[in-house]
Amino acid sequence: MTLTVQCDYLGWLRCPQCGHELDPAADGQTCACAGCGMMIPVQNGIPRFVSAEHLASFGLQWNKYEVAHDDEDRATFEAKTGAAPGELGGLRVLDAGCGGGRYSKVAAEGGANVCGADHTTAVDKAARLCAHLPSACFVQADLKHLPLKPASFDFVFSIGVMHHDVSTRAVFDAVAKMVKPGGRYAVWLYRRNQWWQERLNDALRRRTTKMSPQRLERYCRFGAWLGGLPLVNKTLNKVVNFSSHPNWENRVCDTFDWFAPQYQHHHTESELLGWFHEAGFDDLRVLPPEKTGRLYRWSYDHNLLIGSGVNMVGTRCR
Ligand SMILES: C[S@@+](CC[C@H](N)C(=O)[O-])C[C@H]1O[C@@H](n2cnc3c(N)ncnc32)[C@H](O)[C@@H]1O
Ligand SMILES: [Zn+2]
Repeated sequence: MTLTVQCDYLGWLRCPQCGHELDPAADGQTCACAGCGMMIPVQNGIPRFVSAEHLASFGLQWNKYEVAHDDEDRATFEAKTGAAPGELGGLRVLDAGCGGGRYSKVAAEGGANVCGADHTTAVDKAARLCAHLPSACFVQADLKHLPLKPASFDFVFSIGVMHHDVSTRAVFDAVAKMVKPGGRYAVWLYRRNQWWQERLNDALRRRTTKMSPQRLERYCRFGAWLGGLPLVNKTLNKVVNFSSHPNWENRVCDTFDWFAPQYQHHHTESELLGWFHEAGFDDLRVLPPEKTGRLYRWSYDHNLLIGSGVNMVGTRCR
């Protein structure tokens, strides 16, 4: 049977059990580890090391909604990684938690060799979005046990991902190991808001995370409608999070993205800074938010913007 793996993975794949190099060009259905014999299923050309579990809502959301917009995604990529896509030409890049692949696409279009990893079937959407880019490949895997060669990436980025695990820090540390000495690591996490916002959000999410996706989506459509109302979307969403993106489908998707996942931890800048230091990174830069304006900046600095981030990039020094 002919193999349909979408790219050659450039020798990146490693067995999660024994660390032996994996050759995906086995039989098209599985890839077998020559070291320990572990069999890894390959579906739609993508090796599958895990299934979704607590992150299943992301598989649903990314496969359902069309939310990629080239110009916006390029601008967001640049703001949240501190790198212009054009700077990445020829580099090995890891998109840790690629979701539907919008930022893998930006990096691959900039000339990078990109591997996107995600726990869920979102990788199917990512592969479709990047079907025209032979330098983008995907794996369905847990970021804490990546089936990839450690210290082999020039640039690793993770946008809005790690706070959805039981332990954000465990994911941060595991992904940090993928960065080459001298390579860069950019991470964006949810910012901790004021105590009253955190309390209200926790209370709401305790309910929404138990809803069926169909029921939750009905609420998200209502949120998306509110998010389209001028004024309402600049005031009420400081209390309850709903998206005010100009596009309807993005608003529904963003709101679902907030209320569906089982885990959603919020972090501070000093916390993230400490993690970078302890993982052996220096040359640390706090990246400013994408949006500008005095009122926005004031609210951001006072941790009043729900859904905003803490965002940093550093260089691996050891
Ligand atoms: C909010 S989405 C962001 C996707 C993408 N970075 C973007 O901004 O479009 C978070 C993604 O991280 C993935 N994710 C979270 N924890 C993960 C883990 N431990 N291993 C692999 N993927 C994970 C989820 O499956 C989900 O697709
Ligand atoms: Zn093995």
